[in-house]
Amino acid sequence: MKPLVLSLYSNATLDRCLYSKSEFEIGKIYDKAFPDGETYIRIDSDVSKRKVILIATLDRPNNKILPLIYTASALRAQGATSIGLLAPYLAYMRQDMQFHPGEAVTSRSFAKLISDYFDWIITVDPHLHRYKSLDEIYTIASAVLHADHAMSIWIKKNVEQPIIIGPDRESEQWVSKVASLARAPYLVLEKNRKSDREVDVSIPRIDKYINHTPVIIDDIISTARTQIETVQHLHTLKMKPAICIGIHALFSGNAYEDLLAANVQKVVTCNTVAHPSNGIDLSPLLVENLKKYIK
Ligand code: R5P
Repeated sequence: MKPLVLSLYSNATLDRCLYSKSEFEIGKIYDKAFPDGETYIRIDSDVSKRKVILIATLDRPNNKILPLIYTASALRAQGATSIGLLAPYLAYMRQDMQFHPGEAVTSRSFAKLISDYFDWIITVDPHLHRYKSLDEIYTIASAVLHADHAMSIWIKKNVEQPIIIGPDRESEQWVSKVASLARAPYLVLEKNRKSDREVDVSIPRIDKYINHTPVIIDDIISTARTQIETVQHLHTLKMKPAICIGIHALFSGNAYEDLLAANVQKVVTCNTVAHPSNGIDLSPLLVENLKKYIK
């Protein structure tokens, strides 16, 4: 029997890409909120003795997590033989230590919760800074996919003479990969985050690339302060307006509008989180790897 795919919090492009593949059967799930706000879930497919894949991207996770857990639990109760989670964006990876006394290390609790209900997880470029691998906190099998290839193709196609700029030291591992795939030079920012919404940046050795088009790449764009500070810094150096690329388009509040209003040429993101800035489609990467993984 083919694996059954259920979409809970997916996006249309990814769903279309999955529907076009004969390796999967597409199942149906119905969810709603009762008038009092509690969640109702109904699995409208027979999942007994089936391998099931649940698709849920986990931006703004707090409203999604209970329905997700109820769904996994219902699938188990209805006889699914395995339950995998395809989460193009994996939440709660940034609080990976106690930065201040008393703080909850939410990455660990979240990983435990997901590991308790699923058998495996596939995601794209999770925020692995202090953790080197998801295995440090997830006890289930995991596969991490990378957007580097898709981003480098976009850059090669759309930007003449790019200089790739990474947001911080930790980003160097993957920014260098994108740069090498795009056959472009790269630099990494010195960043100092003063609070949730305030960051300072500087770019050593940028003068060498003054005539290049700056392409700032970050894994997550949330408040966009990292991108905006960098764009403004490049502007004071009289560089060309920057192109801002993010993998995961979280964009809290007016962050997207604020970034567009800064001196940018373009803002482009991958479609792990559905957003008007999506310009790099990762659906083929996700679907191909899903096929490999569930064989
Ligand atoms: C930080 O370590 C991440 O890689 C991103 O730079 C950060 O999450 C971006 O956040 P914001 O858009 O709020 O500056």
